[in-house]
Amino acid sequence: MIEQTALMDIENLIFYYPQGQRPALNDVSFRVREGEFIGICGPAGAGKTTLSLCLNGIIPHAQAGRMAGSVSLRGVLLKEYTLPALSETIGYVFQDPETQMVSLTVEEEIAFGLENAGAAPSLIKERIREAVDAVGIDQLQNRSLKSLSGGQKQRVALASVLAMRPQVLVLDEPASELDPVGSRDFFQLLLQFNKALGMTIIIFEQKVDQLAPYLDRLLVLHEGCIAAAGRPNQVLADERVSGWGIRIPQVAEFAHVLAREAHFRLSEVPLTVEEGLSLIRQWKGKRL
Ligand SMILES: Nc1ncnc2c1ncn2[C@@H]1O[C@H](COP(=O)(O)OP(=O)(O)OP(=O)(O)O)[C@@H](O)[C@H]1O
Ligand SMILES: [Mg+2]
Repeated sequence: MIEQTALMDIENLIFYYPQGQRPALNDVSFRVREGEFIGICGPAGAGKTTLSLCLNGIIPHAQAGRMAGSVSLRGVLLKEYTLPALSETIGYVFQDPETQMVSLTVEEEIAFGLENAGAAPSLIKERIREAVDAVGIDQLQNRSLKSLSGGQKQRVALASVLAMRPQVLVLDEPASELDPVGSRDFFQLLLQFNKALGMTIIIFEQKVDQLAPYLDRLLVLHEGCIAAAGRPNQVLADERVSGWGIRIPQVAEFAHVLAREAHFRLSEVPLTVEEGLSLIRQWKGKRL
C-alpha cells in the first residue's frame, strides 16, 4: 500500500483561554493524512470546539489565549497563513450554524464566500447549484434564513462551505440539530464527499453512535488530552469511552455487556448490526 501523505500535523498543542486556570488543550498530537475521514469525540467541555478552532486557524489568529506547540498544513504553520487564505483551503462548519450566517437568503449565504474571493458570477451560479443539489436543499434556495429549522440551517452551513470546494472540511458537531435519520443521511453525505472527491474530513462529535461506522479513524478527547485513537471498532472497545458520556452504537454496548457476562476481553466491538451478527457467529460455541 502507498503511504498517504501527511496533510496536517498537530504537535504538542497546548491552549489556555485568557482566564483559564486549566489548559483547554493539553499536549495534543496527531497527524491527518490526505483523504482521511476522521472523527474526534469527547464529552462536553473536553476541548472539541477549541481543537477545531486550532485546525482552521481561528486560534491563534482571532481568539486570544496562550498557545504552545504547532498546527501545520503541508508543512507550513497555520499562523503563517492569513485567515482568508486558510478559509479557502480549510472549510469550517460551526457548532451553532447561526454563528456563520451573514446573509438574508439561502442563495446569498452560499454565494457569500465566493463573492468575497472574487469569483465570477457564472461560476458562483454554478457552484450554488452544485452545493444545493449535493446537500439536498434545492427547494430552499430562495428562502430566508430566518424561516429555516435548525437542521435546515446546518445543511445551508454545509452547502456554503462546500461551494468553496475546500480541500479539508472541519465540522464541529454539525448534526446536533438533526434527528437520528437526518444525522445518518448527513454523515452518508459526508462519506460521499470523502470517497468521491477525496475531501479530507475531520468531524467533532459527542455522540458517535451514528457516525462511527463511516470513519477511518476515531480520536477521543478527554479533559483536553487525546485519550484514545485508532480504528473506531478498537477505540470503542475501551470501556472508559462510554463511561465518559460519549454515546456509542447500541450494538457495541451490547457486545460490552456480553463480554462482561462471559468474562471475556474485547479487542474490537461491532458498530453495525451486520458486524454484531458476525461477532455472535464467532462466539457460538464459546460459553456465554
Ligand atoms: N471562550 C472561552 N473562554 C474561557 N474558557 C473557555 C472558552 N471556551 C471554552 N472554554 C473552556 O475550555 C474547555 C474546553 O471547551 P470546549 O468548548 O472546547 O469543549 P467542547 O468539547 O467543545 O464542549 P461542548 O461539547 O460543550 O461543545 C472547557 O473547560 C470550557 O469551559
Ligand atoms: Mg463544542
